[in-house]
Amino acid sequence: MEESFLIKEINRLKKEKNAIILAHNYQIPEIQNIADILGDSLRLSIEASKTDKDIIVFCGVKFMAESAKLLSPDKKVLLPIAGAGCPMADMEDAKSLKELKKKYPGVPVVTYVNSNADVKAETDICCTSANAINVVKSIKEDKVIFGPDKNLGSYVQKFVDKEIILWDGFCPTHDAVTPDEIVTVKLKYPKVKILVHPEARPSVVKLADFVGSTSQMINYVKECEDEKFLIGTEMGILNIMRKENPKKDFIMLSPKLICLDMKKTDLTALFEALRDEKHEIIIDESVKEKARKSLDRMINVF
Ligand code: 13P
Ligand code: SF4
Repeated sequence: MEESFLIKEINRLKKEKNAIILAHNYQIPEIQNIADILGDSLRLSIEASKTDKDIIVFCGVKFMAESAKLLSPDKKVLLPIAGAGCPMADMEDAKSLKELKKKYPGVPVVTYVNSNADVKAETDICCTSANAINVVKSIKEDKVIFGPDKNLGSYVQKFVDKEIILWDGFCPTHDAVTPDEIVTVKLKYPKVKILVHPEARPSVVKLADFVGSTSQMINYVKECEDEKFLIGTEMGILNIMRKENPKKDFIMLSPKLICLDMKKTDLTALFEALRDEKHEIIIDESVKEKARKSLDRMINVF
């Protein structure tokens, strides 16, 4: 189908069905352009919790659409590609988390939103990469269990006076970047600032000039007066940065920074999901309430 036809039909169906399209900053440009709201995980969760539309089409990966459903239980939430997942989220399971909790009785659990609903149900409070430091600081206990991302947890550890018990998960995309690559790039562009996501390895984070969520990086490049930047997160973000800053130059830190799951959604998948109302997110009744509470706590506090 022609792109112009798909765009027209998506917009028509959106009105007819009273739907909203949310898209993550890593989506392909065609999806970014048609989205009503484009953002990082935190912004998208907040928008999902406030919408008055009947249908939310979530262009991103499963944990994001699940969070939208948990926060807006009365809405129909659609994920255009049923198999768009997050490999890091799948590295933590509820059964093992329950066992870890038994080992550390009374120790609160902070879980990155990049997690499945059953893990959120075993969680005291969720966080995103944008608010992880503040969420952990808000805990009164001096020890916390943090999962699934060991890299984000290690990053948070530098800012808090608490012991963080780390889960052993990681993002295969961000964790693939090595400090050697940064050193090589630094030699080539000695004056160019390096921005990385906290999902990167600690040895890479150490070499960066700025560390933040996808939206925090987008804001940083807008406000900084430099003309060139090295970008250390998934390459979908470049389209947004280039569009918003036509006179600035953005270079990828590494060619490995591509998340295949984030690239699965295209206009055809979005059109078909909206037309047929397919791939609806259904959360297991047994975890729904508890998982929602862990997200609510995050949204209410930050
Ligand atoms: P943000 O919360 O920064 O948008 O990141 C989500 C994500 O999946 C990063 O890999
Ligand atoms: Fe998950 Fe990494 Fe993809 Fe983000 S970039 S969705 S953390 S696999």
